[in-house]
Amino acid sequence: ADGKGAPAASGEVPPGYVTPGGPQVRDTEKHRGNGPVRQFSLVATPADIQLGDRSVRTWTYDGTLTGPELRVTAGDVLSVDFANQLPHPTTVHWHGLALRNDMDGVPGITQDAVASGESFAYRYMTVRPGTYWYHPHVGVQQDRGLYGPLIVDDPREPLAYDKEWVVVLDDWVDGIDGSDPDAILDELNHGEPHSGHEMRAAAPKESKKGPSRILEHAHSDLLGGMAGNVDYPLHLINGRTPDDPQTFTASPGDRIRIRIINAGGDTAYRVALGGHTMTVTHTDGHPVAHADTDALVLGMSERYDVLVTAKDGVFPFTALAEGKNHLAQAVLRTGGGAAPGPGTRPRELDGKLLTAFDLDSAESVRLPEREVDRRHQLVLTGSMRRFDWAINHAPFKPSQRYAVREGERVELVFRNHTGMWHPMHLHGHAFELAYGGARKDTVIVRPGHTIRVHLDADNPGLWMLHCHNVYHSESGMMTVLGYR
Ligand code: C2O
Ligand code: CU
Repeated sequence: ADGKGAPAASGEVPPGYVTPGGPQVRDTEKHRGNGPVRQFSLVATPADIQLGDRSVRTWTYDGTLTGPELRVTAGDVLSVDFANQLPHPTTVHWHGLALRNDMDGVPGITQDAVASGESFAYRYMTVRPGTYWYHPHVGVQQDRGLYGPLIVDDPREPLAYDKEWVVVLDDWVDGIDGSDPDAILDELNHGEPHSGHEMRAAAPKESKKGPSRILEHAHSDLLGGMAGNVDYPLHLINGRTPDDPQTFTASPGDRIRIRIINAGGDTAYRVALGGHTMTVTHTDGHPVAHADTDALVLGMSERYDVLVTAKDGVFPFTALAEGKNHLAQAVLRTGGGAAPGPGTRPRELDGKLLTAFDLDSAESVRLPEREVDRRHQLVLTGSMRRFDWAINHAPFKPSQRYAVREGERVELVFRNHTGMWHPMHLHGHAFELAYGGARKDTVIVRPGHTIRVHLDADNPGLWMLHCHNVYHSESGMMTVLGYR
């Protein structure tokens, strides 16, 4: 079935595809059962937040950075009454969940955007336990501070641990969304990083038509380390700056489950807990054969769950922004001692390093062996200079479809023909890294590399497939996997 996946002509929605609220989608949801309803409310709103000693006006969920933790047990129906108090349309996307398609939160594909002042009731069955998160699927709104953790507990949790710590990483990129590009360039050239925070709350330009001038300008100067002299001023853990870190307390000997989420829009992080070995138990919510490591790399939107056995003392949990040489920090305290300084770089960061490709999926979630029914080749194209990121040279249009049919085993082949790496993410499914590798919803594809992943097409609908660098996806590296 090679080559069946060419995108449809622009400007028209192709016929013959499952519709997000259609009978197949409702039917699949029915088979997921009907558990107890867990009710939440969530408000997207501008707010003043405190970043170290600075007060910053930006966009948030419920006025906090990070947004509130939503927690349910697998089998619960998650019901979120969402209100949009932003001056701009938005949606909520539930990253990583295999949920009903019409609750996936993609404007123009699975729902209409929620207008300013309007609300939307998200309601769906949660099937698989794991570490997930939520964010808007409109423009680069996520990067203003709209994100929060979503934890689905396992009713039969096989891991034994005493404490749990949710760690959300974020890059605070100044002035990229919605500002006058000349002002941004001015900022960059004059090295006054902090005044840029105000720009995040300025009126956004949410064009889906291609890269805006802002993206082109900001990126040619900010990203990739080519232009070189601009650093991001801040990297956050749970919304806190390195000079005002969150302190997590436990007792020596406690087993702590750490759920690590990279909510950054443009940064991969290498993370380590000073003085400790981490045992990786899950990636992107799915269990893996346990593996010990000193450090882990998380691309944008990836999650890892690890177990550590706490030692006695005070330890930095540190996230190094890869290629940018900046640190984000939190602190684990189990005993007396001075807190580590903001620039502390634990030596574990430079120790044994694991990536998803070093992991094997746990037996319980391994895909049964089977012939591939359909294969889609996804060549990642574009360049930093032109900021023309795309898939198979076709920048995103809502009418694009890469076709699959329910029941098929599908192979996606990502070929990276660009000079940058891309964390490629698929909605509504968890693919398996070939062969027998981890089950994930996001995979890092390095420059020049070809990565094969497999999935069972078992969740009818229209599902986004995109780079999770929000600037790349917004400029066009995004498409739709559509069930026929
Ligand atoms: Cu976090 Cu379309 O994804
Ligand atoms: Cu990318």
